[in-house]
Amino acid sequence: MITAAPMPAWKDLLALGASPLADDATLAGPWAAGSAGAAWYSRGAFAIEAIVRGWARAHGNAAPRFWLPDYFCNQSMAPARAAGAQLVFYPVGDDLRPRWDALDRMAAEASPDLLMLVHYFGEPQDATPALQFCRRHGALLIEDAAHALAPSGCIGAAGDFVLYSPSKVLPVPDGAVLLVREAGVLASLKQDARGNCAPPALPWIAKRAVQKVFPGAPLRILAGRRSQRFDEDAPARSLPPERALSPTARRMLARLGPELSEFAGARRANARALRVAWSSAPDGRPLSGDSKAAPYRFVLRFKSEDAAARAYDRLRRRGCPAESWPDLPPEVLADPGRHASAIRLRRTLLFLPVHHTLPTDAIIASCGP
Ligand SMILES: Cc1ncc(COP(=O)(O)O)c(C=O)c1O
Repeated sequence: MITAAPMPAWKDLLALGASPLADDATLAGPWAAGSAGAAWYSRGAFAIEAIVRGWARAHGNAAPRFWLPDYFCNQSMAPARAAGAQLVFYPVGDDLRPRWDALDRMAAEASPDLLMLVHYFGEPQDATPALQFCRRHGALLIEDAAHALAPSGCIGAAGDFVLYSPSKVLPVPDGAVLLVREAGVLASLKQDARGNCAPPALPWIAKRAVQKVFPGAPLRILAGRRSQRFDEDAPARSLPPERALSPTARRMLARLGPELSEFAGARRANARALRVAWSSAPDGRPLSGDSKAAPYRFVLRFKSEDAAARAYDRLRRRGCPAESWPDLPPEVLADPGRHASAIRLRRTLLFLPVHHTLPTDAIIASCGP
């Protein structure tokens, strides 16, 4: 069975009752390189919201000017928008890097308070130009490592805040961690997780258990879910309101944290095998070369939206959970000239799973060219 998300091992599910509840700092150990503190949330989107609320509290409830790349999932910014952030989408190039010439021009009009740099698909972006830009303009740097398994290369080394979203890369029901460089801001950030409910973990456990016992189609049929078209955005769903990390996720993360380097090795090996398999395909080129970092997905770039959509349909018919980028912010879609690369990336990139709970030969059989 090929799933887009990693599946929990029975031993980890069965050990839940016996696993201890680690405190925030201990739990953050595997991600926390060089940071002064950690705050946990159910979702990365709530960690971003907490930065906005924390900044506003420290600045007389002013709304921060929050710059982020135009190639970004709109739904993930809903809590930050609701918290009052003034979102400004800066352009990235076809290489997913910020177009610094454009950012310099934008800053001449109004500089940011917060700037987010995304390590897309777990691949490290050089954060030095971002840090220099932030220091020149008095902004705080947020490294968004939601797609990264753990610190690797320069990931996590420069940001005033670093965000990881372990629930995207590990078999856990929820969980995102925000690391801070300055311990002083921690209490304010934690305010937005504490006092909030945690999402219930039981539906996630039940769903994964059914998927493990009846791999593949039955769950899809039970759920009555149809496959999404390549060009179709993910259905607009409001995030569940619970912002705190669930006790189940806390227990599972404490067990999985020490195994991250093993999972990273499996992800790299799966990506390497897909790279070899796709290297002689007539269409669809790997976005990046071999890397020391653990990939979130194996990313293919196609020459046209039609070619990407055809490959997507073909792969899904074979049982490969190929994906497209979920959605783009309305501000980006409304200005296609300024955001041409982000829109092109949305239309021509295709994502294949590489997680550690998939055997390489099963991935190649389903997701090879
Ligand atoms: C780059 C990036 N950052 C942050 C998020 C938000 O993370 P979460 O899904 O944990 O809310 C996402 C979600 O897809 C994302 O792609």
